[in-house]
Amino acid sequence: QASTPTTITDAKTGIVFNTWGIANGASQTAGGFTFGVALPSNALTTDADEFIGYLQCSSKDVTNTGWCGVSLGGPMTNSLLLTAWPSSGSIYTSFRYATGYTMPDVYTGDAKLSQISSTVNATHFTLVFRCQKCLQWNQGGQTGGVSTSASFMVLGWVQAFPAPGNPTCPSQITMQQHDNGMSIFGAQLDSKAANPSYSAWAAKATTTVP
Ligand code: HEM
Repeated sequence: QASTPTTITDAKTGIVFNTWGIANGASQTAGGFTFGVALPSNALTTDADEFIGYLQCSSKDVTNTGWCGVSLGGPMTNSLLLTAWPSSGSIYTSFRYATGYTMPDVYTGDAKLSQISSTVNATHFTLVFRCQKCLQWNQGGQTGGVSTSASFMVLGWVQAFPAPGNPTCPSQITMQQHDNGMSIFGAQLDSKAANPSYSAWAAKATTTVP
């Protein structure tokens, strides 16, 4: 998986992202996976505590199943985890935190996700979202974070085929160990990651689900 970013402009929102991913058809994960970030205009010189994320995950050719996750620190453990899954045409999310390789706990810090655009079809679900207080985390005194001014992040991803249990209640989902690939990867940020339009884009994040 390349750490060099691919810059995309999301067709629905016009937001420009640095992205990293696995192509649909590659062996690491069925259906492919893409994660991307857009950052505040000064984030490559001054550490940001928020970003706009682009998450495109695979449902393995079955509508409304599967879930995917991103580790904002790289490993599953001791990192802020974001889990996302489709249900009845919406995309639900839950911040989680794990100290071991078991079902992650609900994150107790103050990260906030609001949606800008959400698309669910038979094969993929795609979420564009604002993630505030997501780049520094604190789970009961265990802290960590990302330094955007380093122009390099370590991230992790996972995908899974089964839908979570209790899908419309993010704090009470149940799930099995992910079964459609996982990886830790280095994510270089280039100059296109930070954008003067960030504030205008972030203002479009007006939807919370549920
Ligand atoms: C890796 C278990 C949920 C993110 C792993 C590994 C295990 C595991 C055993 C290591 C596998 C290996 O190295 O072969 C579980 C179980 C879960 C769960 C039992 C729930 C019941 C999650 C969730 C996320 C996540 C919700 C993110 C939102 C990751 C990532 C890795 C990983 C990024 C790869 C990096 C690493 O090895 O630390 N998981 N996991 N996991 N998991 Fe999970």
